[in-house]
Amino acid sequence: MINDLWYKNAVVYCLSVETFMDANGDGIGDFQGLQRRLDYLAGLGVTAIWLMPFQASPGHDDGYDVSDYYNVDPRYGTLGDFVEFTHGAKQRGIRVLIDLVVNHTSDEHPWFKAACSDKNSRYRDWYVWSKTKPANADEGMVFPGVQKTTWTRDEKSGEYYFHRFYKFQPDLNTANPHVQAEILKIMGFWIQLGVSGFRMDAVPFVIAEKGTNVKAPREQFDMLRTFREFLQWRKGDSIILAEANVVPKENLQYFGDDGDRMQMMFNFHVNQALFYALASADTRPLAKAMYDTQERPQTGQWGIFLRNHDELDLGRLTDKQRQQVFTAFGPDKEMQLYQRGIRRRLAPMLGGDMRRLRLAYSVMYSLPGTPVLRYGDEIGMGDDLSLPERNCARTPMQWSDEPQGGFTKSDRPVLPVISKGPYGFDHVNVAFQRRDPESMLNWTERMIRMRKEAPEIGWGEFSFLDCNNRGVLAIRYEWRNNAVVIVHNFHAKPVEITFDAGLGDAGHLLIDIADDSDSRADEKGKHHMVLEPYGYRWYRAGGLDYLLKRSDT
Ligand code: NOJ
Repeated sequence: MINDLWYKNAVVYCLSVETFMDANGDGIGDFQGLQRRLDYLAGLGVTAIWLMPFQASPGHDDGYDVSDYYNVDPRYGTLGDFVEFTHGAKQRGIRVLIDLVVNHTSDEHPWFKAACSDKNSRYRDWYVWSKTKPANADEGMVFPGVQKTTWTRDEKSGEYYFHRFYKFQPDLNTANPHVQAEILKIMGFWIQLGVSGFRMDAVPFVIAEKGTNVKAPREQFDMLRTFREFLQWRKGDSIILAEANVVPKENLQYFGDDGDRMQMMFNFHVNQALFYALASADTRPLAKAMYDTQERPQTGQWGIFLRNHDELDLGRLTDKQRQQVFTAFGPDKEMQLYQRGIRRRLAPMLGGDMRRLRLAYSVMYSLPGTPVLRYGDEIGMGDDLSLPERNCARTPMQWSDEPQGGFTKSDRPVLPVISKGPYGFDHVNVAFQRRDPESMLNWTERMIRMRKEAPEIGWGEFSFLDCNNRGVLAIRYEWRNNAVVIVHNFHAKPVEITFDAGLGDAGHLLIDIADDSDSRADEKGKHHMVLEPYGYRWYRAGGLDYLLKRSDT
């Protein structure tokens, strides 16, 4: 059932069309604007773009409330513009993934409207109803503090509908075979228009049993196999990247024991432990999270990320660990959200400390999986905490020091461009950073190139090298007789370490592929080095000629 494993070693860049580049000057980003920036993305080296929802939507949850699955929201362009974009991406060797939001629709979707206005409508059973208000209506909210309930009364039919998220996002009754067939049809549609797969929103909720009598919803995992099969039959290299923040023992159910369900999942477990490591300089929980999520089918892959468009969800850390991350990175109430997370962008979280920022990204690129970056991270963009909820970290891309950061010619951008303070567009922007060889942008480009030159990370198995220092993470990857060794110092101070790279020979050489400090093993085969505060090293064992000889998929 596998045709192409491109996603095992991709570099994914996530963006929202709405805030990336506005070509027609109406203040809203659009596909034509994005199209103009394709060469920028190709230059950065990304191999796949993940587009956040761009289908027709009232936009109450940034497009995660779809009112027509088969159309581009007119504010962003037309289906024609979309196809021009996918074609342009393909020409540059970049694949396109799009969000697939089918746990729920918008309450303005014609299906929901029909379901409300006529109990005999064929769409009535596409949603989840209760004649009376269920006893657990004030449980299970995903946005606590903002969302009040999971069941809301529809005035027209007088019954209550279920919504896992906001009340304008009625849940689809995904157990209904007609709904399932429609989901396949939606996937088939976009596959035909040139996408290579989907980031599937809220997967555990999509496959959960829904309804008034459901106390502990069981997941219907078979549904995932159906989605996968359909996709692979239509286009063998298309994939699903699941948003499923679940405990490690459930992972294999999502990947499928035989790799017959989701090709990719975001690794939320590692993400939270990584933030804890950054906050505390204690990498032990991170190493444990890596072990706990090590097992996956050969064709399965993790999506590794730092920040995304949502809050940094710390819900799976212990209370003490979570508190430590809050204290370090989001001490003020206004920086926190939904009683579990931090809503800031990474650069301000790390106090704008470039060494620390680079450490964080270097770790991200080196962890087992496929890295997923977020637009603006490559230039160290900041946030605007005066904007509500998650919007603070969704401000327009900062292209230059022109008005509105070069994002739009309009003086009324869809969200305010960051214009003040240390992250204002007048000094944090692409144009400036292009000219500075030491900028975050140029560093990111070099990093991505290096990540691509180390396919062991995506394909191989990792093991930890003992440095006798909990603030240092040293990993070795091996694949097809090649190995890379990557070392990170999470401390704000220099550290001296010794480790055995497990490569045997006395005097063997580790070639530094990020910089110019190769390391020669001593007569016992051990390496000794001093790492700068937040320092890192990427080494290749066995010499650079590997790069010349390499022939992988
Ligand atoms: C997860 C998405 O990442 C988030 O932005 C959205 O609000 C919810 N799913 C609901 O679709």
